[in-house]
Amino acid sequence: MTIHFSTKIFPQAELGNQKSLKSSLNTLLAQATDCLVLAYSKADLKDFGSGKAAKAKLGLLAELDQLLGGSISNANIVGDLDAKQASVCVLRAEKSWSANGVKAKRVLLVSLGDLHLSNDRSLTAYSKIARAALKALSGSSIENALWFIPSFSLAHHASFIADEVRLTIQYAGDQAYRFGVRQPAMKFKVKDHADTLKHLIFAGNNACSKQLKDAVIQGIAMVEGMNLAKDLGNLPPNICTPTYLGKTAQSLSKKTSLKVEVLGRKQIEALGMGSFLSVTQGSDTPPQFIVMRHQGGKAGEAPTVLVGKGITFDTGGISLKPGEAMDEMKYDMCGAASVIGTMYAAALMKLKKNIIGVVPSCENMPSGSATRPGDIVKSMSGQTIEILNTDAEGRLILCDALTYVERFKPKAVIDVATLTGACIIALGHVHSGLFSDDEDLVSALTKAGQVSLDTVWRLPLDAAYHEQLKSNFADVANIGGRPAGSVTAACFLSRFTEKYKWAHLDIAGTAWKSGAAKGSTGRPVPLLLNYLLEQS
Ligand code: BES
Ligand code: MN
Ligand code: ZN
Repeated sequence: MTIHFSTKIFPQAELGNQKSLKSSLNTLLAQATDCLVLAYSKADLKDFGSGKAAKAKLGLLAELDQLLGGSISNANIVGDLDAKQASVCVLRAEKSWSANGVKAKRVLLVSLGDLHLSNDRSLTAYSKIARAALKALSGSSIENALWFIPSFSLAHHASFIADEVRLTIQYAGDQAYRFGVRQPAMKFKVKDHADTLKHLIFAGNNACSKQLKDAVIQGIAMVEGMNLAKDLGNLPPNICTPTYLGKTAQSLSKKTSLKVEVLGRKQIEALGMGSFLSVTQGSDTPPQFIVMRHQGGKAGEAPTVLVGKGITFDTGGISLKPGEAMDEMKYDMCGAASVIGTMYAAALMKLKKNIIGVVPSCENMPSGSATRPGDIVKSMSGQTIEILNTDAEGRLILCDALTYVERFKPKAVIDVATLTGACIIALGHVHSGLFSDDEDLVSALTKAGQVSLDTVWRLPLDAAYHEQLKSNFADVANIGGRPAGSVTAACFLSRFTEKYKWAHLDIAGTAWKSGAAKGSTGRPVPLLLNYLLEQS
């Protein structure tokens, strides 16, 4: 099910301003919608409760109460209106409503708590409130809703509106997502879902109309990118092969202005990617090397390059993984999926920036022709690698991709990979691991994570950890032992990134959920897009 998002501008509507309060509410309530969504603060409720309704200047809830024929009073009497942040109350149309020209069938009131008094601009509180309202919208027969964004933003700076809108769309998209419905190859029965919400309209006023319109376009594109990333992650590994990823990327070049090139085994060999090839060696499925370009900036402008790990199934190879939950290693291409999804979204939102997405993709399988522990291979950079564990394969395909992208003279390179189980031990499922020696990249990515609630946490890359990667027989070993496993993996990659500014995101703990809610999260598409938007 796809959910549609759009905007509607009511030039003068402004609930924070006493003079326009009544007419603003009149205008909003006169809209034929299944549900008008408004936020109120703790102070609004206090005003209402104190009986100021009798006085000349009515507050938000008192004005509403008049227009809704006492519905607010009734809700308050039974305790349905709560000052507690994110508490929700849905009022349903009564006969008296239409007499006052109210066409809305419902009014959803959600509490801001004391948000507008606090200085907490981290968006965490807003996200809690938005999620609660979206949840209330989804469980009923509401098909379309009008979300009056300025009511959420009373004391916020205008620039927060864009963040709030994108975040709301991101969450609504998350809630509406169902696996496989967009995938042509998905021949199995797709599970149904009960959600009815089909159309979410963001209402704004003159003060925010530009931010609102831009943010809705960006949010829609972001959801498209996340949906694609989720689908690719969730698809079974017998369907989502390297070839399928290549075809998907190519199909995007038909839908958008993206330019896509897919290299096969012969070309990968010609490039001298001995490290990448060593991983694909045990598999009957051919490897692919995907390059996607978005030319949204000036012709000579240095591109930002995204590199995504695309292992479509990781058995561990000869260093075979234990059987438990091995199916989840179909998600080992989530780095690739997030890069493809981000490129798609960047093209859809016509981001004014040059971006290149690169995906090395193959399977990691054991077989008679598979790489053995102890094998030494030569990477495209010329460095030789002693493969001590064939399950540390992500770094082996990424290192050649990182050498390949030197040719683009990138402004910055960000690689995204489900690289280490150790990252889950370090950070759990909350933050993605961030590794970089470039302070500007670190702060930009950290901030992009905070505004999209797709957060990262920095881990070190000190020279001291490189000691663990020493090999007696080659330039470098592909593992550094159990201590600081995520750090040594990142250190390994760093040896191939000397020519440009680089950051590495380890998404092993954040790309998908296990257990009853098993499925891709679409992370870190929001983080990457917010970073790119901020840079453009
Ligand atoms: N794809 C895995 C990492 C992974 C494991 C991600 C579990 C999410 C959940 C990666 O290829 C891998 O197997 N890494 C090894 C490295 C080790 C052999 C040094 C690991 O983490 O165990
Ligand atoms: Mn592995
Ligand atoms: Zn892997």
